[in-house]
Amino acid sequence: MLYIGIDLGTSAVKLLLMNEKGEIKNVVSREYDIFFPQSGWSEQNPEDWFKEVLNGIDELTVNCDKNQIAGIGAGGQMHGLVILDKENTVIRPAILWNDGRTNEETDYLNNKIGKQKLSECTGNIAFAGFTAPKILWLKKHEPEAFSKIDKIMLPKDYINYMLSGVHCTDYSDASGTLLLDVKNKCWSNEMLSICGIKQSQMPKLFESYEVVGTIKQDIAQKLGISKEVKIVAGAGDNAAAAIGTATVGEGSCNISLGTSGTVFISSETFKADNANALHAFAHADGKFHLMGCMLSAASCNKWWLEDILKTEEYQKEQQNISDDKLGENHIYYLPYLMGERAPHNDTNARSCFIGLSMNSTRKDMTQAVLEGVAFGIRDSLEAVKELGIQVNNSTICGGGAKSLLWKKILANVLNIELITPETEQGPGYGGAILAAVACGEYASVNDAVKKLVHITDKIVPEPKMAERYEKCYQTFRKLYPTLKNIFTEI
Ligand code: XUL
Repeated sequence: MLYIGIDLGTSAVKLLLMNEKGEIKNVVSREYDIFFPQSGWSEQNPEDWFKEVLNGIDELTVNCDKNQIAGIGAGGQMHGLVILDKENTVIRPAILWNDGRTNEETDYLNNKIGKQKLSECTGNIAFAGFTAPKILWLKKHEPEAFSKIDKIMLPKDYINYMLSGVHCTDYSDASGTLLLDVKNKCWSNEMLSICGIKQSQMPKLFESYEVVGTIKQDIAQKLGISKEVKIVAGAGDNAAAAIGTATVGEGSCNISLGTSGTVFISSETFKADNANALHAFAHADGKFHLMGCMLSAASCNKWWLEDILKTEEYQKEQQNISDDKLGENHIYYLPYLMGERAPHNDTNARSCFIGLSMNSTRKDMTQAVLEGVAFGIRDSLEAVKELGIQVNNSTICGGGAKSLLWKKILANVLNIELITPETEQGPGYGGAILAAVACGEYASVNDAVKKLVHITDKIVPEPKMAERYEKCYQTFRKLYPTLKNIFTEI
């Protein structure tokens, strides 16, 4: 049998075709536009996502026996607010996970409603990118759109709805709305009422590995695939990536170096830290996880190379950065192009280079960007360590994981072993695995990942280099607090 995994990302949708043995038969990627209507705002059209998902499935399955396709599972960018009216038409563009317009609403939730109340209701506090503050923003700034809302959903749930006709979501993705009582796995009526919405406006909740319905007949016909194809609930992209990298069980770690950068720790039971610095969310294996998220990771490198240096030759730009330079850079880069979530929770934070001199080169600046992102990931890992969780190794996935140099920098900045699975397509592979489990190919998610996920390579930190980077990190840590007020001013 064949399974389609969809990674509904921010820069593109990546789709992969997997057989029952976990072998990847084909991978395709299709881009769509992202709009930044104001500094710190970020939106996309759900219709663009769906159009490219259909085009992507067409392209992905062109040379396969389409009758073999049994299930489709998606991992999607989290927290995005998608709203549909009574006719199931999209009311306005989706407000994305890295949108920072909800400063006032986040402040209201954390300080007027209070962090303690939020934590009691949901296990989490408010961050600007979460869905609940966006609903409050909409209520205040676009009351007409708000009044038309019949259904609220998350990005990959819109795709699942368009494919199956079912309004559904899964616990991992629903956790990022700040409307779910994560520990008890149900919508929090108190949070819904704080946001002025009713439970009937929310999608039905599923475990990630459950079938939500079968594909709509007209879509099956259009794609030339069986009308029996099952649509699976899927997961938020980080939980899906964790499945795709076999990050299950107590205390295993996955780092995703995608548009965002995340540190994901799986857990058998619900846990939250006292300060709620890390997100306490449900996992796609039916259990839970903790997560730190930086808003701009591989996107910093993309911005630097494509928008500023006007090149797409990523490898060429990195190839002359030699090992003796690692940990010796005199330039620092702050990776806050879209503000920052963990650990600063500051929508005003912005990027900058510090330490430039007459002998600074393009190469030094490229290196600084890779290092700045690694230091940002280290910030999240520090929050994990503060909980007493010891991390000695981690898998890594996402577009940034294609760069050996970046992985070496990261392994040494974090001073942990980085393990590379066969594919860096974490969320897409995870989506396909969830589909295989839902279709009965494997007894459980645990069983599937044990059999399917294979490791290809391991990067071990080098003590001297790790020591040099430790010093650099201590300098990096001082930069944000020093600049915080300046960011607010500018
Ligand atoms: C996680 C988060 C990001 C997005 C990226 O909380 O906001 O990782 O899911 O797609």
